[in-house]
Amino acid sequence: MGKRCSKTSKVTRDPTRMFEPFRARIAVRVDREIGRALPRANTSPAPLHRAMRYAVLAPGKRIRPAIVLLSFQTYGGRSSGAWAAAAAIEMAHAFSLAHDDLPCMDDDDFRRGRPTLHKKFGEAIALLAGDALLAAAFQVAAAAGGPRDGAAREKSLMELAEAVGPGGMVGGQVLDMLGEGRPARRESVRRIHRLKTGALIRACARTGAHWAGAGRRQVEQVSRIADTLGLAFQVGDDYLNATASRKQLGKAGGSDAARRKATYVRAVGLDATRAELTRLCGEARRLARRLPRRQDLWAGLADFVEARQN
Ligand code: IPE
Ligand code: IPE
Ligand code: MG
Ligand code: MG
Repeated sequence: MGKRCSKTSKVTRDPTRMFEPFRARIAVRVDREIGRALPRANTSPAPLHRAMRYAVLAPGKRIRPAIVLLSFQTYGGRSSGAWAAAAAIEMAHAFSLAHDDLPCMDDDDFRRGRPTLHKKFGEAIALLAGDALLAAAFQVAAAAGGPRDGAAREKSLMELAEAVGPGGMVGGQVLDMLGEGRPARRESVRRIHRLKTGALIRACARTGAHWAGAGRRQVEQVSRIADTLGLAFQVGDDYLNATASRKQLGKAGGSDAARRKATYVRAVGLDATRAELTRLCGEARRLARRLPRRQDLWAGLADFVEARQN
């Protein structure tokens, strides 16, 4: 009887509706972690600290911390250090957005429904607040957990360093920049996306697994679904940039075409971009079925990546 009940509830559970409260709950706790870790806004030099808080605590989706915690739970994690590791990744993400928006990069005026960091605080403070956020991210990651968590801490520090560095996000940003105005081929766009966006999303899943004490094969298993979703996430970003308004996105729409960016949309067109997003999210749902726990939430995450409106 008990078995039948649990089977029934599994079929009727709606993954999309399950994921949203999970994401929202993680966002609240991670924001609290970040808020506590950063100097107060009025601490000298106040413009720097105000800018750091403005960038990282602005209303974003917090999808990366959600992935850290989802992976952590998938492998039965218990250590509270995973929360600090998740906060650290969100801080590194905020640094990447601050620099991505600078006039020397994408030159964007809006982010998360507000003026970008440099519009609000000036270019020099935006640059330095980004630098400081990255340093603070490593500090938070290095202080995560307790005396017994040395192995997880070390591995997650390495994940973060690799994901943001030349073989990850920064490398991808350089390729993204060099790709502007050049012919865009699907394979080169994939490479850009895997680096500039996928690497950090992969690091989220691996970090959660490390904090859960997962073995090598489990870390590889969760990396595969994260790679699929990471690519899908940026394919979706390209699609939204080409189709949605600033009001909907909270950031510029149409800017990729204006800068002749090497995007999926430019490489294969709008319909094939949408089809690729659907295909990748379907693949992620298939991979989710092989995970030991939280299959529904992973499926819900894939739904979220496919259906997101900003
Ligand atoms: C925006 O990331 C930059 C990309 C890598 C596509 P998000 O879409 O996760 O932005 P926030 O954090 O919700 O603002
Ligand atoms: C963002 O790429 C990637 C990083 C910030 C590393 P995009 O430039 O395409 O993302 P948005 O559209 O500005 O958020
Ligand atoms: Mg960019
Ligand atoms: Mg940009």
